[in-house]
Amino acid sequence: LTPKKLAGTRILVTAGPTQEEIDPVRFVSNHSSGKMGYAIARQARLRGAQVTLVTGPCAIAPPYGVEVVRVQSAAAMREAVLARLDQIDVVVKAAAVADYRPKVRAGQKVKKGAEEIVIELEKNPDILGELGRLKGKQVLVGFAAETDDLVANAKAKLTRKNLDLIVANDVSQEGAGFNVDTNIAKLLFADGRLEDVPLTGKQELAGIILDRIEQLRKAG
Ligand code: C5P
Repeated sequence: LTPKKLAGTRILVTAGPTQEEIDPVRFVSNHSSGKMGYAIARQARLRGAQVTLVTGPCAIAPPYGVEVVRVQSAAAMREAVLARLDQIDVVVKAAAVADYRPKVRAGQKVKKGAEEIVIELEKNPDILGELGRLKGKQVLVGFAAETDDLVANAKAKLTRKNLDLIVANDVSQEGAGFNVDTNIAKLLFADGRLEDVPLTGKQELAGIILDRIEQLRKAG
């Protein structure tokens, strides 16, 4: 049985992709399955935490006993997270937030006809960056999915977004990243420590991340 080490801790986890609508039937998104975030929500709940899961559209069932807030776009995810920030001790941002969204959303289905069409994209708000600026006593944990210069890129994000911990995974490696049940990660801490987590199940990695969060909460 998992000891209830996070009893009394309020954790908000974001998970899954966001979808940015082009018109009523089309959207821009990515391959995130939500598995990593759902695993964190589940393991946090097993450790006794009070868990809110803010989730983009995912095909998997949410874990038992967590509050589920369903959102579609990055803008909606931002609203849902910011509205709850005051009542939260730990934020884990496992969601693969779309970096860009269509500049305009057509009110009607875009008709087929032209040989070429252009969809202009504009930048979405960086939710985690904003949380880093607003951060009070919360522990902030981010993810970094990279295909090159894993550690350097993750370190830069850790600093830029004012995080306590970043979980970096090289999504070009087999067994890591999107839509699989396993992951390979490096945990980078604000104090410069780096921990390697070789190929393991997402549930196990979630447990390791929560153990580290518990230590950060004790130290802070
Ligand atoms: O996209 P990027 O590599 O910067 O993502 C790093 C972290 O920032 C992830 O934890 C992701 O959930 C978060 N993020 C966010 N809002 C964005 C982009 C990323 O919260 N618009």
